[in-house]
Amino acid sequence: MALLSSSPAVAEAMPIEESYPMTDQDFDRIATVVRTTTGIALGPHKRSLVYGRLAKRLRQLGLDDFSSYCDRLDLPEEEDERRRMVNAITTNLTSFFREPHHFEHLERDVIAHLRANPPTGHRLRLWSAGCSTGEEAYSMAMAVVAGLGDLRGWDARILATDIDTDVLAHARAGVYARERCQAIAPRFASRFVHPADRGRVRMADALSQLITFNPLNLFDHWPMTGKFQVIFCRNVVIYFKKEDQKKLFERFADYLEPDGLLYIGHSESLFRVCDRFQPVGRTIYRKVRPS
Ligand SMILES: C[S@@+](CC[C@H](N)C(=O)[O-])C[C@H]1O[C@@H](n2cnc3c(N)ncnc32)[C@H](O)[C@@H]1O
Repeated sequence: MALLSSSPAVAEAMPIEESYPMTDQDFDRIATVVRTTTGIALGPHKRSLVYGRLAKRLRQLGLDDFSSYCDRLDLPEEEDERRRMVNAITTNLTSFFREPHHFEHLERDVIAHLRANPPTGHRLRLWSAGCSTGEEAYSMAMAVVAGLGDLRGWDARILATDIDTDVLAHARAGVYARERCQAIAPRFASRFVHPADRGRVRMADALSQLITFNPLNLFDHWPMTGKFQVIFCRNVVIYFKKEDQKKLFERFADYLEPDGLLYIGHSESLFRVCDRFQPVGRTIYRKVRPS
């Protein structure tokens, strides 16, 4: 038995033993807090995921059941606990050059075009919305640097945001296990990926200097004043209800410059969700209507 439980793979496959009672009502209370704060819709099939991600926290807090945890989440002064809960619930799966055709398009079509036809003030603004641990933003930065060739004279910035403050700390550090970098092409790796300690690597300053990592809940106020030429919001809205997706894509359209581009995840679509965009490539959309 001890042997079995020492293997994470086996432990994951085993049915969850609910040491902390969680009633349907407890689950609904948690799902409501999560939906109203993050937009993430947790159907009943997510019950074991919620249990698995929060049970450790109940243990740390010395609580006996989820009902006590929900009472705690309701307290106005428990802002920090609600933040921890959101961090635990978000799914942060990501990788460098995930859906590589997006980065080829960004470098070869978008940045190369802007280089040949510079915008006013050589101002370039990109946004990685739902950036998780930062691999997406660093991949965008590599495409920008490669596409521009020389950054001198350019006012180029990448905003990278996420609701989860834990993943943002990782993103800011820019340090990754070496094996996570296999999808980085040698032409990029030789320039932008430097050895670090303990088998890890560090992203080059030339990339970090382009990116600002900030916490942002996509359903809260957006403090940005200028518009973007490019927004990546990939593998984020799959967790949202259609009505929340609609609101979000409308807002993205408002925050894009005319002809600005929106990149979404492989299982996401704007069809019947927002009519202000036209597809220009696989899961790549151009803003065509100002309002
Ligand atoms: C699966 S990851 C996708 C990461 C990256 N965009 C990619 O495609 O590889 C989804 C990210 O969206 C973030 N997220 C979920 N709801 C959010 C919200 N309401 N506001 C901001 N970020 C959110 C999660 O914290 C998570 O890091």
